[in-house]
Amino acid sequence: MMSTLVIALMALAMSGPTAAFVPIGSGLSTHVSITETALLEKVRESCRAVVEATGQEFKPTGNSADELVQACLGPTAKGQVSAAKFHAALQEIYNQNGLVDRDLASSAAHHFNSEEFLQGRRLIIQGMVAIKASIRAENFHAARETLGRILHTLQDFYSHSNWVELGFTEPYMNLIRPDLPLDNLADLNTATCKDCGTGSCRNPILSNILQEKKLTSGYMGILTDVKPKGKCSHGGDSDLTSSSVPRGGINKDRRNQDNMVLHDTAVKAATEASLQLLQDIRLAAGDNDFLRMLGIARSAVLCFVIDTTGSMSDDINQAREVVYEIIDTKKGTQDEPSEYILVPFNDPEFGPMIRTTDPDKMKQEIAKLTAAGGDDIPEMCLSGLQIALTGAPASSQIYVFTDAPAKDINLKDTIIALIQSTKSTVSFFLTAVFRRRRRSVSSSTDPYKEMALASGGQIIQVAKNQLPQATDIILDTSTSALVTVLQQARNNGKPETFSFMLDESLQNITIYITGTSMTFTLTNPAGLSQKDSEANGNLGTIQTVGNLRRIRINADKQTGTWQMNINTNQPYTLKVTGQSTITFIYNFVERFEGAHPGYVVLTGRPQTGRPANLLVSVMGRKGPSSLNVKEISLVQVFSSEPAAEGIISEISNGDILVTVDTVPVGEFVVALKGTDQVSNSEFQRQSTTQVAVSKVNIKAVVVSSVEPGKQFSFPFSVMTEGPGGQFSISARNDRNFPMLFPSSLMLTTGQYSKDNITITPPATTPSGTDVTLTLDAKSATGVDSNFAVLKLSVVTKITDFVQPVCKMGTVMASNCPKVLSNCKGFQWQFTANITDGNGTGIERVSLFQGNGTLSFSSLPAPDVYLSYNASCCSQIAEIVALDIVGNVGKCYHSIVPSGGSPALGLSLPIMLCLCLHWMQLWMLC
Ligand SMILES: *[C@@H]1O[C@H](CO)[C@@H](O)[C@H](O)[C@H]1NC(C)=O
Ligand SMILES: *[C@@H]1O[C@H](CO)[C@@H](O)[C@H](O)[C@H]1NC(C)=O
Ligand SMILES: *[C@@H]1O[C@H](CO)[C@@H](O)[C@H](O)[C@H]1NC(C)=O
Ligand SMILES: *[C@@H]1O[C@H](CO)[C@@H](O)[C@H](O)[C@H]1NC(C)=O
Ligand SMILES: *[C@@H]1O[C@H](CO)[C@@H](O)[C@H](O)[C@H]1NC(C)=O
Ligand SMILES: *[C@@H]1O[C@H](CO)[C@@H](O)[C@H](O)[C@H]1NC(C)=O
Repeated sequence: MMSTLVIALMALAMSGPTAAFVPIGSGLSTHVSITETALLEKVRESCRAVVEATGQEFKPTGNSADELVQACLGPTAKGQVSAAKFHAALQEIYNQNGLVDRDLASSAAHHFNSEEFLQGRRLIIQGMVAIKASIRAENFHAARETLGRILHTLQDFYSHSNWVELGFTEPYMNLIRPDLPLDNLADLNTATCKDCGTGSCRNPILSNILQEKKLTSGYMGILTDVKPKGKCSHGGDSDLTSSSVPRGGINKDRRNQDNMVLHDTAVKAATEASLQLLQDIRLAAGDNDFLRMLGIARSAVLCFVIDTTGSMSDDINQAREVVYEIIDTKKGTQDEPSEYILVPFNDPEFGPMIRTTDPDKMKQEIAKLTAAGGDDIPEMCLSGLQIALTGAPASSQIYVFTDAPAKDINLKDTIIALIQSTKSTVSFFLTAVFRRRRRSVSSSTDPYKEMALASGGQIIQVAKNQLPQATDIILDTSTSALVTVLQQARNNGKPETFSFMLDESLQNITIYITGTSMTFTLTNPAGLSQKDSEANGNLGTIQTVGNLRRIRINADKQTGTWQMNINTNQPYTLKVTGQSTITFIYNFVERFEGAHPGYVVLTGRPQTGRPANLLVSVMGRKGPSSLNVKEISLVQVFSSEPAAEGIISEISNGDILVTVDTVPVGEFVVALKGTDQVSNSEFQRQSTTQVAVSKVNIKAVVVSSVEPGKQFSFPFSVMTEGPGGQFSISARNDRNFPMLFPSSLMLTTGQYSKDNITITPPATTPSGTDVTLTLDAKSATGVDSNFAVLKLSVVTKITDFVQPVCKMGTVMASNCPKVLSNCKGFQWQFTANITDGNGTGIERVSLFQGNGTLSFSSLPAPDVYLSYNASCCSQIAEIVALDIVGNVGKCYHSIVPSGGSPALGLSLPIMLCLCLHWMQLWMLC
């Protein structure tokens, strides 16, 4: 997230030396820019491979991330493609990268400071293992978080060690290869630096260290100036050791007069190293899952949470119809869901979550659901919803079908916290909610209403026989590029007129109103209007079912300012949506200081009474440069008060840092206005999740994975700016793993109180499992509260770092013509054995490069025998073998007839042949 943050620092950066390896800095080399360069490059390669495998051409219209995603998903299906999830994934990675500078500033290993090479490498290797395990379990969010952190550590090596001073320009491969040793490390008693009184010297490394190519890194002391004798310092104001002899420092974080060449080399090596690490992950994950991890998949996800108690058979039948309809009508389009999620709940059981990318599997699963049991007792609705919120990708549309109040209403705060952190939208289809009369109707539907509103979703109350007409809303939202133009709600209705801007890019514009006893009039920019009573009017069609009005605007709509006049004295909600690739994502962020200052995403509600900072990324049809953002503001959902305008501090490549000085007191959403330069038309968009400020602040971060069967403890702290006193603490996790935490904390206004949470995943937890932990702190009166949502990954410690090894057998390529253009009709082939030695065994073998046919002996197995044959036109073969924990081994062979670099894998017969060829004896081979 930080990249923009970056921006705020621009003024500072321009006045001082330019920065790098700092978390942020506009137009400079930063952790964000290095990470972004590497990720975009790897995404481009994977996209090319995936698109070309379908026989299509990969042709992005430009270099923006938006156009890359368009070209990646575009050619195989028609429809609009939104890059929002890709941007959100990138921001998650950048945010974790930045956290390493805030929460782990004093951990030398995380920054390769103080010669902690083995420890630093261990973090990288363990992280790579965790990422592979998370991807296998399809826990992409956890994978992204770990990736962000270990890329930071890997990149820091090149700035904080003397690798580039030693003359190396390429990455140090051994940092991502646990089977290779870290050699020639300077030991504790070896002096490494000359004294540098001025604090800035060209290359203060001692000449014998340079000659002997000994690896060292700078010591960093945030609290102390003590370092071992003769050792280099990191350098800089916050490093106290830099004033102890030998003074100065060797970090290349910033580019300045003395270190330009070293700095530039370090940036280049760090970028290359990031690419190598990403390539290893990509090979282990496969292109499709690698891209899914980065949010590149069709964006529609179909997610149903369904009550299966006795009275629900009509509802289940209708849900089934909708699923079949979506699967059958959207197949082959961008609107085809990329994933299906189904969570049944009953009483007292709920789950398990069924999650699949296979539409036929989804059809089978939903066909299996039957209504039975649970009568007369309210159901475990929120437990089911909790699983869906934690299992579905962020920003999903989740539909809940039920006809009864929730029994597990104590989960409500957890659900609201999950809604806010995932930004998913939850809508409820409530049929015959009134069947249980024990409580008043309103008190049993209120919690559903609160959750739906908080998420920007709707409460649809219909009779069971009306359900078929109400579920069109699911088809509307099951689309790849859904955007919200306007969203408002009123608790006490009165006559009111809402204006909104419809731009040229919007398609399938739909207005939803939920409420009773109302009339409305819709008016277009030309003054033409349509009343609620006209089902088919000038402007569109109006469908009324239960408490829901759905207005579909005609395709030839007029662009410009529209008006909706609503006349009622009852509560209601109004939402205007459409499909467009012009959209935005946002996060509330907070600034941190220190040696490497930056911004990180807030995990709960923003603070009351303080300016709020937002990091916003905008996406347009031709990337961010095709949009002109004019206004970003916070708009209250329940009132017509003017929006709180944000001040845009800076813009870099579509990322915008915004400060809002006076944040609204009630629930608000983020609104954005601007001009689309492609169509020269003005647009507006709104976010859907409601946010409110809080006087309470919770700090909690988890920065490593957890082992099955082991206790894991991490600190959290809580502060309030309201009245102090006893605050109740509650923590829950979605897997019901045992936890220990204090049930309350005593707070003094303005001071953080600290404690620890301990969680113990059972020893049988499969590696790659993720756990979502929500932590909640509430004042005794219940008025002040806040939450934090944390993701933990459970990863088995692995000891198998053995990469599968390839041994080439016979290569038969002698009949390939010497002139490539004559290659048609000729074949070459080879055999090879891959062994995993003492490793866990080979599980997967695949052809990564080459157009030939690969066959291999059965898997999994400790040894694999393979044969490959290909046309002589396809001159390179690269075969990837993965063991069970994701160690990557490769067989590479090239028949490119030159002494050039791709010939690395030339086997003996070919080399012989080439020699003979030079001796004009080629006909012999
Ligand atoms: C959106 O509109 C287009 C044409 O305007 C139509 O073909 C398509 O079916 C609509 N999509 C949905 C989900 O209604
Ligand atoms: C939290 O854990 C740390 C490290 O184990 C310990 O030093 C600290 O005293 C604990 N804090 C509390 C409040 O128990
Ligand atoms: C590969 O393995 C097979 C049997 O496991 C063996 O016969 C063959 O010689 C091996 N080939 C190489 C090149 O090691
Ligand atoms: C396998 O392990 C044994 C004993 O631990 C060791 O002697 C042998 O060299 C190892 N083999 C390989 C291929 O690593
Ligand atoms: C080579 O590939 C063809 C298909 O392209 C296959 O029919 C043939 O059996 C293969 N030959 C060998 C030796 O693997
Ligand atoms: C495989 O074929 C495609 C086109 O059919 C070509 O672009 C590509 O370079 C070939 N790959 C190799 C390794 O020969």
